[in-house]
Amino acid sequence: MKRILAAIVLSFTLLRSYADEGMWLPLLLGKQVYADMVKRGLKLSADQLYSMNKASIKDAIVIFGRGCTGEIVSGSGLIFTNHHCGYDAIASASSVEHNYLKDGFYAKSFQEEIPSHGLSVQFLLKIEDVTKEVEAELGNLKGAERAKKQSEVIASINARFSDPAKSIEARISPLFKSNQFLVFVYQRYNDVRLVGTPPESIGKYGGDTDNWEWPRHTGDFSVFRVYADKDGNPANYSTTNLPLKPKHFLPVSIKGVKDGDYAMIFGYPGSTNRYETSYGVKLKTDIENPSLVGLRDIRLKYMLEEMKKDPAVKLKLASDFAGIANYWKFFDGESKQLLKYKVADQKAKEEAAFIKWAQDKPEYKDIFSDWEKAYASWRPYAKHRMYINEGVMGSPLAAFAASLMNIERLAATPNTKAEDLKKALDDAEERRKAFLEAENKESDVRILATTAQMFYNDIDKNQHPIGFYENLKGNYGDLKDDATYRKWATDVFKGTAIFNDAKWEAFKKNPATIQEDPAFAYASAFLKNWNSKYMPFFQQFNTQNNELARLYLKGIMQMNPGKKMYPDATFTMRVSYGNVKSYQPRDAVKYDYVCTMKGVLEKYKPGDYEFDLPKGLLELAAKKDYGQYIDKQRNDLVVSFITTNDITGGNSGSPVLDANGNLIGLAFDGNYEALSHKIAFDKDLNRTICVDVRYVLWCIDKLGGASNLIRELKLVR
Ligand code: ARG
Repeated sequence: MKRILAAIVLSFTLLRSYADEGMWLPLLLGKQVYADMVKRGLKLSADQLYSMNKASIKDAIVIFGRGCTGEIVSGSGLIFTNHHCGYDAIASASSVEHNYLKDGFYAKSFQEEIPSHGLSVQFLLKIEDVTKEVEAELGNLKGAERAKKQSEVIASINARFSDPAKSIEARISPLFKSNQFLVFVYQRYNDVRLVGTPPESIGKYGGDTDNWEWPRHTGDFSVFRVYADKDGNPANYSTTNLPLKPKHFLPVSIKGVKDGDYAMIFGYPGSTNRYETSYGVKLKTDIENPSLVGLRDIRLKYMLEEMKKDPAVKLKLASDFAGIANYWKFFDGESKQLLKYKVADQKAKEEAAFIKWAQDKPEYKDIFSDWEKAYASWRPYAKHRMYINEGVMGSPLAAFAASLMNIERLAATPNTKAEDLKKALDDAEERRKAFLEAENKESDVRILATTAQMFYNDIDKNQHPIGFYENLKGNYGDLKDDATYRKWATDVFKGTAIFNDAKWEAFKKNPATIQEDPAFAYASAFLKNWNSKYMPFFQQFNTQNNELARLYLKGIMQMNPGKKMYPDATFTMRVSYGNVKSYQPRDAVKYDYVCTMKGVLEKYKPGDYEFDLPKGLLELAAKKDYGQYIDKQRNDLVVSFITTNDITGGNSGSPVLDANGNLIGLAFDGNYEALSHKIAFDKDLNRTICVDVRYVLWCIDKLGGASNLIRELKLVR
């Protein structure tokens, strides 16, 4: 009886794993997964999702900027993405006088669209499997040798598939922990213009308080357009460029969503680690995440204080602040959920089953004992690494100073060519300009003082850079005293050449003098100490970890023959499918699957930093003037909904599609209860948070008056 039950439970869980969980490669859906999509409600053929030969949905999906997704929604290259994805471009286009971040913006004609320098979108042209070729080159190489060879082979295949003259860039992605290699070929368009954005009080409504949480009332969208030369080829910004005519664009459905509806998300999930070991999970919850969170706490606190004082500072720091805050909350929540769901124990159980299976298989039998040793040797330095990346380098001044280390090296090397030194100095000149433009001294001086103090208090004394704290004590006083660090940081800011044009010119004439610079002296003391003594341990650990992970996954696949598996996210195009669905976050509490304008108004706090609302919205909402975007059943405007789809950071801006491939929303977040999702997908609690496209269109049309944009769309009613 027991056995039969176990067998039933097993086959049930294997089946269940098809639903919701999974970031599938559109190229390799396979019959099993496609059939399951159809069973869940999909009405399209596999060819309509992804095809090499004719236009398909994949042609309407772009990599937006460096880490987001966008989708083409008109025949003239109109792009929808999230507000937080367009944030940097919106802030850069803004000034205190024309503050689009604060007030919003809509172009009423092509001429009014604002070029966004440095922003690009990439279309996926094709995917090819090059596993055989890569593996033939790698043979039986192991460890560091294998890693080195792998980078070389990848670089050479990428070059073969790329064509810089046509802006075609190929990037191989190692999948299943380097058990499979696919080359993804993209075409990059550099002329991308800002077309529209709601004010931040809509686009980031709820701020960091509501970030990563449901219920959610944020209108997280922005609108861009991609331009090309007259033949539709990529071209740098020019007034003669024309809106791109895309191969495919998404129709937009304003029919609205119901609980249980099919939902499909295409996009670029950045990273997951679903086969993370119990050791890795423990390192994260014990050391890595708490260190990052603690260090970011203080950076955010000092930045926010200055941002609240002055709108110019707010504009200057807003984008960096948002990025730091976003993952501050993420990693804090991730730790909490990993601990709450005892994920390390879950992993240990899976590992025990693997170890049992592997005991008579020489290739696999030692994986976990080797892994345990690798973690044990690395663990004593893991905190130091976080304190370098998030602490020392968390001060923008120190990070810029550290970037001058190559100049020091060139100046000290006897046979450095004059032109190499000149080039490095010219680069530094450019970066200095950008640094000074972005710098807010008032917050940075306090970040510098506090991070140096935290390093002193929290990092093993044996690992400190030799001499630094001894000198600090000699010149500034007791190392237990906050004032010591504050006095020192003030002097660094006063003394450094980085803020002083005359001294900076003198440094350029005689680069070796940089060693005397107090900002440089600090940054280089900590980085040289790290690079020379501890970084090698990290590299060694990394190589071992990758090697073991590759073997582990290879073993897992042998252990489960025939099981349909999806690879971890690698910022390559994936499709995920699921349903619109409510959930129960905890006992006796049920969350509805939509949020409405009613809830937007309930959260409203006039004048608040995160919960203020634009006057126009309040007026229209008071009249319930929702036009064709109203949800008739609720007699309200639906602003957001949730689905069971498996996504992660990088998917931001992704289209949420109905069973017919029409756009119904934009994915913009994950829920707090499932913040452990990078490591373990929770089938009951995981939700994707989407802005309803009807709210997007209402903001553009009714609130923004940009009916010109609505006319471009293909609406499905
Ligand atoms: N958590 C969202 C994501 O990573 C970003 C939301 C941005 N909003 C914010 N309040 N920081 O996709």
